[in-house]
Amino acid sequence: MLPDHFSAAERPVRQALADHAGKARHWHLADLFADDAGRFETLSRECCGLLVDYSKQRLTGETLDLLRELARARDLEGWIRALFEGSDVNWTEARPALHWRLREQAAAAPEVHDQLARMGEIVDQVLRGQWRGCHGDAITDVVNVGVGGSDLGPLMASYALADFRPEHGRRPNLHFVSSMDGSQIAPLLNDLNPATTLIVVSSKSFTTLDTLANAETARAWLERAFPDQQRALMRCHFVGVSANPEKMSEWGIHPCNQLLFWEWVGGRFSLWSAIGLPIALTVGMQGFHELLEGAREMDRHFREAPLADNLPVILGLVDVWNINFLDITARAVLPYDGRLKHFPSYLEQLEMESNGKSVTRDGTPVDYHTCPVIWGEVGSNAQHAFYQLLHQGTQPVACDFIVAGRYVPPHGDAEGGEHQRLARQHRLTLANCLAQSRLLALGGRALPDDQHDQPAFKQYRGNQPSTTLMLDELSPRRLGSLVALYEHKVFVESVLWGINPFDQWGVEMGKVIARDMVPVLETGDGLDGLDASTRGLVRRARS
Ligand code: F6P
Repeated sequence: MLPDHFSAAERPVRQALADHAGKARHWHLADLFADDAGRFETLSRECCGLLVDYSKQRLTGETLDLLRELARARDLEGWIRALFEGSDVNWTEARPALHWRLREQAAAAPEVHDQLARMGEIVDQVLRGQWRGCHGDAITDVVNVGVGGSDLGPLMASYALADFRPEHGRRPNLHFVSSMDGSQIAPLLNDLNPATTLIVVSSKSFTTLDTLANAETARAWLERAFPDQQRALMRCHFVGVSANPEKMSEWGIHPCNQLLFWEWVGGRFSLWSAIGLPIALTVGMQGFHELLEGAREMDRHFREAPLADNLPVILGLVDVWNINFLDITARAVLPYDGRLKHFPSYLEQLEMESNGKSVTRDGTPVDYHTCPVIWGEVGSNAQHAFYQLLHQGTQPVACDFIVAGRYVPPHGDAEGGEHQRLARQHRLTLANCLAQSRLLALGGRALPDDQHDQPAFKQYRGNQPSTTLMLDELSPRRLGSLVALYEHKVFVESVLWGINPFDQWGVEMGKVIARDMVPVLETGDGLDGLDASTRGLVRRARS
């Protein structure tokens, strides 16, 4: 029996999907492939330089037809329009979610391009060695101080695109500091020269304790190096990026060094704004504009493509199928590319902070699962870490394999012979990616006939579903399309689940409680109001 709260339009299709899932639970991917030679052609789509192969998911064309009916019953097309019309899709904070505007062209989003131009000036000066420290030295090192969306996006993308070079000038060394304790910033500052270091304080709110604690440590370090030069050091060694200019000014960021973005950009959707300054320092402004262009292509596709061909819609529906109908509530993100090392943590925030919710628009608690548990690692490393569980453990896990189809040698860094060796390593990686998704899907039936008769401990059950996303190449433009694909997929899922993907009230409460805990730890007062466990731990820490 379906719960009462589904609408009349939705109930029949939900019932049909539940019945269909009853059969699908007995399917094995090896049989689905054996029965349909055209499965790849039917269940893959290509757009924006990305091939998405979902033929290794436990579904058929009929499954997708039903899921699209469900999407229509939830008015997905109306919600996509609402997103791009700027309606208040973030209803708990009464504002629109306009991150896609950050990718629009100048005529459509002049205020965005004003800030991009200001960011471009800073990037240009740093790259050309014209931004000077307060003793007149060129900047050699830039430290991004931020956390969550003010760290993960720029970190992920600048690491991924490090093979690319700015169109001119010299890229500084980039460093990222996010952890609230001093374990990242202290050793880093020990190694850096204050005279040649620029600190970028990135924080949408400019109130995040983690970031302010690190920024204050950096300021104290600079003050020690340049006593009595407070004004000059703030002017020459600090840039701020925020949606809160008042707080930036209060903290001491010089107005000329303030880059702005807007409340309508969620932190985890902000890498396209001036929060992307480290990315622009990595690839130059031209590369940054290519990143935006790739995302813009995906925006257009998401807006215009019919549901059956729409990549974010397809990925969202596949997730909903796995989670709500096949009870597969874990997903591994497996990039087969060392450059995408930080992509899993980036997605962890994007997906789990967005859709880790359990209350619907009308305030009722959901009685179905929403966001799955997501984790990941560079695929070839994960093979030596947690693939054992994927192959022979007891948990069903859906996997996203991400790989570049083509190897593009880094600009002029390698000799001919070395290029060939790196191209061979790329083929080796690709081979592993394809082999693993095949074995996970088909199990023992992926193996030659003479290896079928194995003891139980050597058998592979298979039937672990996966999607493979193959990029033409890993370039700024394609990374832009890939990230925008996941952003929109998250939105599609939120519509199907009836939740708001653009707030994060759970995280906000954690910040409040942590703030209250600081004086308790410092003074030992207020222990009586705490639970026994926390009281015991505070006492132990204070002793
Ligand atoms: O983790 C909660 C959060 O609010 C994220 O949404 C955000 O990306 C991060 O903190 C950092 O916030 P801010 O950019 O305001 O410092």
